[in-house]
Amino acid sequence: MKTIGVIGAGQMGAGIAQVSAQAGYRVLLSDMSVELVEKAKVGIGKLLARNVAKGKMLPEEVDTVLGRITPAADHSDFAPCDLIIEAASERESTKRAIFESVGKHVGPETLLATNTSSIPITRLAQSVPDPARFMGVHFFNPVPVMGLIELIRGLATVDATVDAIEIYGRSLGKNIIHADDAPGFIVNRILMPMINEACFALGEGVANIADIDMGCRIGLNHPMGPLTLADFIGLDTCLDICRVLHEGTGDQKFRPAPLLIKYVEAGWLGKKTGRGFYDWTGPEPVPTR
Ligand code: 3HC
Repeated sequence: MKTIGVIGAGQMGAGIAQVSAQAGYRVLLSDMSVELVEKAKVGIGKLLARNVAKGKMLPEEVDTVLGRITPAADHSDFAPCDLIIEAASERESTKRAIFESVGKHVGPETLLATNTSSIPITRLAQSVPDPARFMGVHFFNPVPVMGLIELIRGLATVDATVDAIEIYGRSLGKNIIHADDAPGFIVNRILMPMINEACFALGEGVANIADIDMGCRIGLNHPMGPLTLADFIGLDTCLDICRVLHEGTGDQKFRPAPLLIKYVEAGWLGKKTGRGFYDWTGPEPVPTR
């Protein structure tokens, strides 16, 4: 593989573009507008500059890496890609529309993948030209730091697709795990009930935000507490994944906590909106309850 297409220049898409460019791939990156891609490139440039300041990267490498990332104005620009990874928002209709559009411009060798955190791969495969060359490639946030990719094959995915994408993933320096196409795959199936339970505990008055988070951070040695992590992931994304788990398994243990639903309805979506369980507008996050 030489050229990777990334559709969606949000935190996941930008991260995938960054690590791919750092590994030497040519990257075509798109979003709703070229301005959004340019904004993502500025963010990537800042992260790379931090690496330079820490002595982990040479200053001239920053321009080389950024130079490998080209904004794609239209899905027809993705024609030369060996692999196209969709990292748009976690809405099935959005993802389907993207695959239906980009699928018209790819050749018979191009592999398509989705970074979905929980939508069934076999269902999304109905929107791609060849389900044999399609699978889930689930990165973790922040992509440049987290050393894991979860690979999920759909019912029709062939071994050659899995093998090629596994080689790509390893070339980024990531560890690879394989999951069945079951709701939440491996990691979110385990992580989201913890975040959801933290929301139940907060809603039921078991403890305040700071103590729930410190309990997991210090008592369990997690790098951040579940409510902080939820704010990082986005409470809307957490709720979407809880709903997929709940609806996909039919198991009541996955029902979303009322408080999580309420926060999403209030537009308190976490760090990206300045408020979730924490107020993120100041220099340090401040717990809100
Ligand atoms: N982008 C790039 N690099 C980042 C970063 C970001 N957003 N945030 C932190 N870093 C880098 C720092 O620059 C630093 O790099 P260095 O080792 O070269 O100096 C390193 O990460 C450690 O950062 P800090 O010292 O500032 O802070 P921490 O030690 O607290 O680490 C963290 C930050 C790595 C984010 C850590 O808190 C962590 O691991 N948190 C949990 C993250 C997690 O669980 N992610 C998975 C979420 S679930 C998911 O993505 C699935 C989805 O489907 C929902």
